[in-house]
Amino acid sequence: MPFLGSVIPTFDPVSPQARSILDLTWVTVAILAVILAIVCGAVIVILLRFRGKPGDADPPAVHGHTKLEITWTAIPFAIVTLLFVLSLRTMGQIHPAAAPNQAPDVIVVGHQWWWEVRYPASGVITANEIHLPVGKDALIRLESADVIHDFWVPQLGPKQDAVPGHPNFLWLQPTAPGIYDGACAEFCGNAHAWMRLRVIAETPETFAAWTAAQARPPASQHTEQILKGGAIFQEQACVNCHRVAGMSDTANAAPDLTYVATRQTIGAGVMENSPENLARWLENPQAIKPQCNMPDFNLSEEEVAALVTFLWSLPNPTPPQGSLDHE
Ligand code: CUA
Repeated sequence: MPFLGSVIPTFDPVSPQARSILDLTWVTVAILAVILAIVCGAVIVILLRFRGKPGDADPPAVHGHTKLEITWTAIPFAIVTLLFVLSLRTMGQIHPAAAPNQAPDVIVVGHQWWWEVRYPASGVITANEIHLPVGKDALIRLESADVIHDFWVPQLGPKQDAVPGHPNFLWLQPTAPGIYDGACAEFCGNAHAWMRLRVIAETPETFAAWTAAQARPPASQHTEQILKGGAIFQEQACVNCHRVAGMSDTANAAPDLTYVATRQTIGAGVMENSPENLARWLENPQAIKPQCNMPDFNLSEEEVAALVTFLWSLPNPTPPQGSLDHE
């Protein structure tokens, strides 16, 4: 369905789970189309062939016709049973049970209004963008830090609620490299509309390189502007909410910023990521994402510039051999 898929992502599935949902959709649509055709056809035939004339007596009522009553009970019952069995089969395909004690590949925590993303095996923490290797069935553990959110990447699988105090699980298995956009699919407060997420599916090699770069301690460059930005980051209370590895390791009330410069969007999808847009965000987040939890800190132009320089200096994806590489 190339045309439908380009307009509505659910019609362009890129995982066995999403494919299974779409297959069920088409079977259901086909059954409903046949019923619609029979009902409409019958109405048209009856209107044309059996139309009464003014003054005609009422036709005899059909009452107590056992065969007829059994027929019009049995047919809908058979249709509903068929749809029920097909739905059960699809549920089995999209939610296979995890092996006992199986560790999740990714832990995703919904927050008002962004997604925390953790990789327990590598210790990598990021936000709003989930990197996954193509072809691997990744087990996602969904949690919430506050209210009920709903994780949904239409091309990859079903919606799944993120419920406070009750972890839910989801399988994601992208079969082709690409960028698959998703969103929070349940109203969760003021900025719900800007709680987007993005799955970046890449080859196992690219994913391994990304993981290694993200797991590496941040670069420690020491230009005056970077040091100034780092100092502002600590003085202006940024550290209370935002994690930067080595600086505020336990902060998680707001997105991790260690490698924010490597991400595609900021503000959970509210704008493309660039030094210019990050500066606009810092000048007044409320103007960009109204009602978000980050207040306007009334930073001066110089402070904004120093902060952007600091945050942009941290990623160090290709350090010279033997320098900052701590592996
Ligand atoms: Cu989170 Cu809507």
